[in-house]
Amino acid sequence: MILVTGAAGFIGSHACVELLNAGYEIVTVDNLSNSKREAINRVKQITKRDFLFYPIDLLDKEALEKVFIENKIKAVIHFAGLKAVGESTEKPLMYYYNNIVGTIILCELMTKYKIKRIVFSSSATVYGMPDQVPISENSPLRAMNPYGRTKLMIEEILRDLYLSDKSWSISILRYFNPVGAHPSGTIGEDPNGIPSNLMPFITQVAIGKLNQLKVFGNDYETIDGTGIRDYIHVVDLAKGHLKALEVVMNTFGVKVFNLGTGSGYSVLQIIETFEKVTKKSVPYQIVERRQGDVAAIYADTNKAKDELGWVATKGLEEMCIDSWRWQVNNPKGYI
Ligand code: NAD
Ligand code: WQD
Repeated sequence: MILVTGAAGFIGSHACVELLNAGYEIVTVDNLSNSKREAINRVKQITKRDFLFYPIDLLDKEALEKVFIENKIKAVIHFAGLKAVGESTEKPLMYYYNNIVGTIILCELMTKYKIKRIVFSSSATVYGMPDQVPISENSPLRAMNPYGRTKLMIEEILRDLYLSDKSWSISILRYFNPVGAHPSGTIGEDPNGIPSNLMPFITQVAIGKLNQLKVFGNDYETIDGTGIRDYIHVVDLAKGHLKALEVVMNTFGVKVFNLGTGSGYSVLQIIETFEKVTKKSVPYQIVERRQGDVAAIYADTNKAKDELGWVATKGLEEMCIDSWRWQVNNPKGYI
């Protein structure tokens, strides 16, 4: 049995589908602070599999302990956390408390019940401003906002945990920019309010919910002046977790992997590809740079390829098509 925290979220729900399709038994937890219970129902529909869902908070140690008592957990995939960079600068204590204390409580219970295998959702945001791209796992870490620092601190907590007890097996996955949705169009990214990330903003403009996209700066040193990122299809990303799970089940230690495609695309390239494959127009306006944005970042994917045996297979067109299908099928998100 694999415990999945944050299972109702964007990436967690897609990972649950891949785990169930691969034959794993799962038990799931989410406090639904940034997600809907319907996502869990949809995972069950897609996979035609049943599993337990506990609508609880990781900060509620008693409730979480019940999950450990009631289920034969072998490993944990830990997605639960708050993830909005802007909000984290306004509410740093909320981010530090939720993400860090939540992880500490989870690891305390894992220690108590001798389940010392964890796959953790980190982020490319821990690299901050890269010295060079593609960026490899041993590049300097310099998170630039409270959200990023929660990820960096949790990475360090996990490293210390292993140093204190060599029977831990820990996989730290640094995601680049997850986009797309399950090809069924029934699960996807469902942001609260106005999206802060590029792809959900684009789909909401294309469907007419928002008037126009603001492109944050066209004076970066990139091919067309707009920011370059490594967008990765969420289904590819979800599959990376199965590979990481195999590693934590079979080895000890702390291993860090970038999960990206290794290719960078500019904001204008994303808009152009989206318009081409969906035949929808995405009106946009160039505005000032967004504070804290880097010009270009994309992954060196060699380590994940060599040690996990994982590579992303889905290209930008598929990412756009699948994001759009989810948006069209669920104009109001999960209701
Ligand atoms: P998401 O918000 O859709 O999913 C996170 C889930 O965790 C939500 O369903 C939320 O309700 C739940 N949660 C938050 N705090 C909790 C708590 N204390 N107890 C129980 N549940 C809690 O986000 P996502 O995009 O699916 O991201 C999953 C993980 O990956 C997060 O840790 C995020 O920081 C990380 N990550 C995301 C991205 C991205 O761009 N989406 C990139 C890099 C890393
Ligand atoms: C992508 C590009 C923007 C919105 C963030 C987090 C990171 C990770 C992924 C969690 C950039 C441009 C965006 C818009 C725009 N999350 N843009 N107009 O900033 O690379 O990464 O999400 O870990 O930590 O920082 O992603 O989707 O916000 O931006 O022009 O309305 O699109 O400037 O170049 P980002 P994003």
